[in-house]
Amino acid sequence: MQVHKWQKKLIHEAKKARNLAYCPYSRFAVGSSVLTRSGKIFSGCNIENSSFGLVICAERTAIFNAVCKGEREIQAICVVGRTALPCGACRQVIAEFGLDIDVILATLRGPQRKENIATYKIVELLPHPFDPITAGLLKRLP
Ligand code: THU
Repeated sequence: MQVHKWQKKLIHEAKKARNLAYCPYSRFAVGSSVLTRSGKIFSGCNIENSSFGLVICAERTAIFNAVCKGEREIQAICVVGRTALPCGACRQVIAEFGLDIDVILATLRGPQRKENIATYKIVELLPHPFDPITAGLLKRLP
């Protein structure tokens, strides 16, 4: 698979975020980065809590980081981890911002952390999504 320059940059930023993961309980560090349609990149890591139900995934941290900076138009999201597959909750949050969002998954394999890269549309990872437009809750994304 050919990996484009913008995809490499996203992976690089997600890896940097992964190094900041706060995951003393699972020791499963995940990094994520979001590319907005305006060309900006926002990143996030998973942040755990001793009250386990309060854990937040890297993907949501990255998306919420973008939204907090006034950026809601998301073109792509990248996930980096030992297994890089967004959980169901994160798939739903990604789908909120558009069904055509590209999802770049960089799985780190073996002691060398060799990357395996796969790309999907969010709708492939979350078929038959409950999304605000199909549900008639919004005419377009605000
Ligand atoms: N985690 C993520 O950050 N993203 C995912 O896609 C799946 C899981 C985190 C949550 C928790 O801190 C750790 O990985 C183990 O589940």
